[in-house]
Amino acid sequence: MAALKVLTEPNPLLRKKAVRVPFIDKSTQKLAADMVETMQAEGGVGLAAPQIGKSLRIIVIQIPEEEPFAVFNPEIVKRVGEREVTEACLSIPGYEGLVSRSISVITKGFDYNGKPLRIKAEGLLAQALEHEIDHLDGILYPDRIEDKNKFFVVENRDEESLITCDGNSP
Ligand code: NI
Repeated sequence: MAALKVLTEPNPLLRKKAVRVPFIDKSTQKLAADMVETMQAEGGVGLAAPQIGKSLRIIVIQIPEEEPFAVFNPEIVKRVGEREVTEACLSIPGYEGLVSRSISVITKGFDYNGKPLRIKAEGLLAQALEHEIDHLDGILYPDRIEDKNKFFVVENRDEESLITCDGNSP
């Protein structure tokens, strides 16, 4: 495994719609493993393949205190409710925003071994799924903020709180 470099705005690869993974094999599994290592090295809650320059529909997520996991070809099939949450992104360092997200979502896709996956999520997991799947469509969270007063520079962060996650901030 290897931690990779995370692309930042305005890299055009972040804006490209990613393509479906045709099959899950050793090379796409290695990519997912590298993404997990990169996410952990950066202290993120999630990472999408376009953020490391791969235009493929793969996301990885790790909720604090839980195991990391990958979803290949993830798709949100149901969204319920709406709430405003604080969000940050490893590709937009130094900023945070208030974004409207669903209260709960159901996501379908395939796991690391290629088995079909169905995730019912709420809270941080639902937020992370929406944020990371947005990345696969070239959407970054500031795109979802209409009121520009809700997108701000984060100042005076100490080392510990420095962008602790992708998809959410503590
Ligand atoms: Ni992000």
